[in-house]
Amino acid sequence: MRTPEDGGTGRAFEVTFDGRPVEALPGRTVAAVLWAAGVTSWRTTRDGGRPRGVFCGIGVCFDCLVTVNGRPNQRACLVPARPGDVIRTQEGTGHED
Ligand code: FES
Repeated sequence: MRTPEDGGTGRAFEVTFDGRPVEALPGRTVAAVLWAAGVTSWRTTRDGGRPRGVFCGIGVCFDCLVTVNGRPNQRACLVPARPGDVIRTQEGTGHED
């Protein structure tokens, strides 16, 4: 259902980020959903564990890598959020070595 409150794109749905529920709107990327929830970093670097989130926002820099539904290395600025997505902070490569 389209409503003025959601910009006319449809009903809000829920995803989780690191186990907590987050409201999402259809058509938004994972990055947009996390930003709207006040989350600005969702990855740590391999060297030093420094926090990262969106940098370019257009799929070029790979700074925004995140784990979605158990799949690491998803670019949050490109991947559309889907109802029920389980989004987790990605530590390093995202693979348990
Ligand atoms: S922010 Fe650069 S690829 Fe996503």
